[in-house]
Amino acid sequence: MTGLKERSVGIVMNGVTGRMGYRQHLVRSILAIREQGGLAMPDGTVIRPEPILVGRSEAKLAAIAQRHRLDNWTTDLDAALSDSSAEIYFDAQVTSRRAESVRKAVAAGLHVYTEKPIAEDTETALELARVAASAGVKVGVVQDKLFLPGLRKLKRLVDGGFFGRILSVRGEFGYWVFEGSWQEAQRPSWNYRAEDGGGIIIDMFCHWRYVLEDIFGPVRSVQALAATHIPERVDEQGRTYTCTADDAAYGIFELDGGVVAQINSSWATRVFRDELVEFQVDGTEGSAVAGLRRCRVQHRSVTPKPVWNPDLPATEDFRSQWQEVPDNAEFDNGFKAQWELFLKHVVNDEPFPWDFLAGARGVQLAELGLRSAREGRRIAVDELTL
Ligand SMILES: NC(=O)c1ccc[n+]([C@@H]2O[C@H](COP(=O)([O-])OP(=O)(O)OC[C@H]3O[C@@H](n4cnc5c(N)ncnc54)[C@H](O)[C@@H]3O)[C@@H](O)[C@H]2O)c1
Repeated sequence: MTGLKERSVGIVMNGVTGRMGYRQHLVRSILAIREQGGLAMPDGTVIRPEPILVGRSEAKLAAIAQRHRLDNWTTDLDAALSDSSAEIYFDAQVTSRRAESVRKAVAAGLHVYTEKPIAEDTETALELARVAASAGVKVGVVQDKLFLPGLRKLKRLVDGGFFGRILSVRGEFGYWVFEGSWQEAQRPSWNYRAEDGGGIIIDMFCHWRYVLEDIFGPVRSVQALAATHIPERVDEQGRTYTCTADDAAYGIFELDGGVVAQINSSWATRVFRDELVEFQVDGTEGSAVAGLRRCRVQHRSVTPKPVWNPDLPATEDFRSQWQEVPDNAEFDNGFKAQWELFLKHVVNDEPFPWDFLAGARGVQLAELGLRSAREGRRIAVDELTL
């Protein structure tokens, strides 16, 4: 082969011992890109990501490094940031640790890619955006839900004009997170403590902001009711702790054009759905139900005419009256797909719209959702600027 140049990109990956950092970002994204032989650029150059693992536990890092035959790892963030091969800093730590580490990375001149939420409050999120802009480094925030096959198909329907005038969106997200007593919890305990950056509103409303805006349009107001349904849980060390953060949020969002979006988010619900998140969209011309992978539609021309009669058992199998939207494309892991775009943004200056201002908009919706819940009222969502 001629003209095949390799371009190594050192990536400081902080928090790879955590759930997201390890599984989705290290294994399913960066190592997967390496295993596929790197990332080819239009000019034939191949980007090869070189992870520099950072975490708090030497033992855990050493085990990960050995398992994946990696040799660059440290518990010293400053040392990793000053590694001469480092170009990108990636953060998948607990949310409360993020801002400080991102500031350090920007000061070290690295480009920054980070998990959401980018900070615990809007002010800090905007400050990070400003600091990064004035340092001239490239930044990005994970917005993985946009890359889910189900939501990609839903967007395709919107773009193709399937719905006519969109009336409403109803989202149902959640599953039962075990309390940790008689069965181990499947989420980390900090998620249930407000003082440690936990809570379902801060966790999920940043996703809902970009999902709603990318697919349907700007969010103009939020009204949320937050609940802490499970008051006590048991942590990773077997200690009982008090839950100080919301574990369910019942939100209503008004979008441009009068579209009403209502999304329930809960870690205290049992799944009677086909997927862990589902959105039903109703429009004048048709409706759709999209999940993580699947998307089904019903056009107005084939809409049945049910008549309310509680004296009779249901006469129709309503679910069977929907039609599957075909993939018509191959969908890669969403985290990996977004990593590839960020790497191309860094190396080849290709566009990457999901910057820190986008991240701050997510944090803003969460912050306003929490305020709405506290004050018991609907709150306008104002435009954010740097
Ligand atoms: N994009 C998504 O869909 C998605 C899903 C879940 C979590 N997240 C985000 O990813 C980040 C990590 O979440 P996770 O579920 O992987 O958490 P986790 O508890 O499994 O991992 C947390 C990581 O942060 C590190 N850490 C640093 N300081 C810490 C401290 N004081 N206490 C505990 N851990 C500390 C840990 O070593 C670990 O590597 C969060 O910001 C979360 O909002 C994103």
